[in-house]
Amino acid sequence: MELAALVALTLLLGALVILVAVAVGRRKEEIREEIEQAAEFAAEGSGAKGPASKKQKQDKQRSRKDKAAQHTFSHTLLAASLKSHSGNVTCLDFSSNGKYLASCADDRTVRIWSTKDFLDREHKCLRANVELDHATLVRFSPDSRAFITWLANGDTIRIFKMMKKEDGTLSFKAAPEDFPQKHKATILNIGIAETGKFIMSASTDTSIHIWDLKGEVLASINTNQITNSYAAISPCGRFVASCGFTPDVKVWEVCFGKGGEFKEVARAFDLKGHSAGVHAFAFSNNSHRMVTVSKDGTWKLWNTDVEYKKQQDPYLLKTVPCASSEGSLVALSPDGRVVAISNGSNIAMYNAASGELEEELHSVHSGEITDLRFDINGRFLVCSGDKAIRVFHNAPGYRASIRDMQDMLKKAQNEAMKQRLQQQIKDAQSALDTVLAGPVD
Ligand SMILES: *[C@@H]1O[C@H](CO)[C@@H](O)[C@H](O)[C@H]1NC(C)=O
Ligand SMILES: *[C@@H]1O[C@H](CO)[C@@H](O)[C@H](O)[C@H]1NC(C)=O
Ligand SMILES: *[C@@H]1O[C@H](CO)[C@@H](O)[C@H](O)[C@H]1NC(C)=O
Repeated sequence: MELAALVALTLLLGALVILVAVAVGRRKEEIREEIEQAAEFAAEGSGAKGPASKKQKQDKQRSRKDKAAQHTFSHTLLAASLKSHSGNVTCLDFSSNGKYLASCADDRTVRIWSTKDFLDREHKCLRANVELDHATLVRFSPDSRAFITWLANGDTIRIFKMMKKEDGTLSFKAAPEDFPQKHKATILNIGIAETGKFIMSASTDTSIHIWDLKGEVLASINTNQITNSYAAISPCGRFVASCGFTPDVKVWEVCFGKGGEFKEVARAFDLKGHSAGVHAFAFSNNSHRMVTVSKDGTWKLWNTDVEYKKQQDPYLLKTVPCASSEGSLVALSPDGRVVAISNGSNIAMYNAASGELEEELHSVHSGEITDLRFDINGRFLVCSGDKAIRVFHNAPGYRASIRDMQDMLKKAQNEAMKQRLQQQIKDAQSALDTVLAGPVD
């Protein structure tokens, strides 16, 4: 009992240290990486100098024009607005090493942002051009050294590799061949499994294709959900799930043999409980929790940490009324503590355990929210819905972890543990206060 409590405490404190991002005794390796990363982005900035003075002038004129038409938005939780795209942003993705955020827009570019300077005044980004087309979806590869895109006109997947040039800057190179065209209807999502074993693409007409990394179709799934509204790979890379017109969310396991060869796609489990179609779903980072948002006017939190092969079913943890409509999206913080749901251009943030509505963000963008996700440390919530990307502090996440520590403090047996918890709560509270008092764009 004592040991279990100690292990739990250690884990919790571990997570909190990351959350609060207290830079105590940073290792040399980290510092080296930081310097490298600074070089990757700095050189891009300097590349625009010199012959580009005319271009800079044009940029300035354009940005002045854009400003007039720009949607204004402010909120105490707004940490940054990332503005470089000249077209509407449709998709966002964080690299699994936590260093980058990728965005794509109908301006024929993919932008790679450094997550490290979210809180700085300047937000540098690197640009990858999508020749003769534009990307509507972008997903990082597990090693964070490549990304896949969905081509709006090409109607298929193109892979880009990130390469370090001699001067240390990053550049991007498209693979010589795009994947073959296989989808006949509007694309919903693409993904690469964290295991690096497969790529997924899904369209509204209930078809999901499982590909190898070279663009060969390994298997095709018919979801039988009449129409689909969303599909995704689980963060553990084992499962593919889909939702749509029917009230159930279906989950499959993509199975590989011991030698890494593809075996089959097998039905794993369903989430049954909504009384109408499901707009979207999301996983926690270890795939142990899922959240769903439905036309029935609720979101539901599920425990999916089950052994489905032993006939265990996932079970419902929470049902909470919420505003939703066609196109609503949902995000779950990596630790499963916070649920964010979009409705049109509004976002609501809930405590996942209590179901309490904690934050409402109104008219965040001039258009409907096109993507919504937490960064890998659960510090920020990001979204798109026009040319800008908004970055919010995940204040409900900070509050939830403080509350969890306060609960542990009540149960704490010995004095040393109590003191440690009290100190941790104080630190977390002051980190939250700092975040909330920080500069607002
Ligand atoms: C949700 O979005 C729909 C469509 O944009 C809108 O009609 C409705 O008023 C919104 N509900 C709330 C509570 O904001
Ligand atoms: C970009 O989004 C805005 C706001 O939703 C919309 O008015 C505009 O038509 C969009 N532009 C394009 C090119 O789709
Ligand atoms: C999930 O996120 C938590 C909190 O950010 C972190 O402590 C944990 O290591 C992550 N787990 C995985 C499997 O990525």
